[in-house]
Amino acid sequence: MSASLNTKLCQLLGCKYPVIQTAMGWVADANLVAATCNAGGFGFLAGAVMTPAEVEQGILDIKSKTKNPFGVNFHMYAPGAKEIIDICIKHNVRAVSYSRSPDKASVKKLKDAGVVCIPTVGALKHAVKAVEMGADAVVVQGGEGGGHTGSVSSNILLPQVVDALDVPVVAAGGFKDGRGLVSALSFGAVGIAMGTRFLLTAESPVPANTKSEYVKAKTEQIIVSKKLDGMPQRMINNVFLQRLEKATPLKLLYLAVINGLAFTKMTGGSLLGMLANAWKMKKNNGMTMAETMMSANAPMMIQEAMVKGHPDDGVLPSGQIAGAIQDLPPVSELMESIVSEASSTLDRLNKMASAADVEQQEIA
Ligand SMILES: Cc1cc2nc3c(=O)[nH]c(=O)nc-3n(C[C@H](O)[C@H](O)[C@H](O)COP(=O)(O)O)c2cc1C
Repeated sequence: MSASLNTKLCQLLGCKYPVIQTAMGWVADANLVAATCNAGGFGFLAGAVMTPAEVEQGILDIKSKTKNPFGVNFHMYAPGAKEIIDICIKHNVRAVSYSRSPDKASVKKLKDAGVVCIPTVGALKHAVKAVEMGADAVVVQGGEGGGHTGSVSSNILLPQVVDALDVPVVAAGGFKDGRGLVSALSFGAVGIAMGTRFLLTAESPVPANTKSEYVKAKTEQIIVSKKLDGMPQRMINNVFLQRLEKATPLKLLYLAVINGLAFTKMTGGSLLGMLANAWKMKKNNGMTMAETMMSANAPMMIQEAMVKGHPDDGVLPSGQIAGAIQDLPPVSELMESIVSEASSTLDRLNKMASAADVEQQEIA
């Protein structure tokens, strides 16, 4: 491996290679995280869709499968956040990732306990704010990235963030290989973070028929829509999303109620309770009733495809990079190919530089 791949990120997170497997709800489970860490990368458990007890069990499962350090992702605004923080500290989790609404006191508590705080941001102003709130490093996701995403591409956003911050910056959004890793390093990043690429591996728990929809997807089919929860989210434009996109506000409300009924049946809640919650959320954030109810139901629509394996009946969050991925390699093979391609790319660039030097000397 080229010495240039042993970056500050490796030292900060205690991993061999500067490659992060990001958290993805219902995808980044203990098995995927452990596989990533055993292969020299750094994985984050998708704790944002788990109860604190499930996060703790996930941590124990990871520890039973790897001795290497790993991280946990969660929402600092979620009801169980304080408990998850205590669990991460108790189990010496190396790093936590989070995105919206970080809380300064929680960041301090984690840092005081030696946990690295590395949030994901999708805009320059959020990167600056994240550092003000205490972040040790920042993952910056360009608009190509999967799930909730910003509007500026990695090529433009990454150097802006690198220039503005004095903490290490990791590039996310649109990465899948060693050339991408070298390009991120050339912009001044200390590594890359990938979601979609890790979703499309042998160890990812996503059912095979759903994975095959990702492999089939063309780049231009992976679009940004606000129809799922009112926030821009990049997903595959499958039949389900097309139905949401075309729906009138009334139809959207109807779909939200149908989904809501199924969701309340699944979780044991009541429709009345869900409507009351939706009304409260609508008053607080100015969304329409349909948007608010869709937002409350979004987890179910994601699980339908990602857990139950019904890709036509749910949504498929995805980065545009899925359009350039056709294989489902084991994580260890993926990591080896990234490192080997990055090393050969660096060699090629070095040779180009040496050849240019010789030409210059000959001209002189
Ligand atoms: C299926 C899927 C689920 C995701 N779930 C989460 C999540 O629960 N929490 C989070 O912070 N980011 C989530 N993301 C965003 C990823 O962690 C990551 O930032 C993004 O995928 C990077 O872009 P890429 O897909 O081009 O690699 C998700 C992305 C995907 C594709």
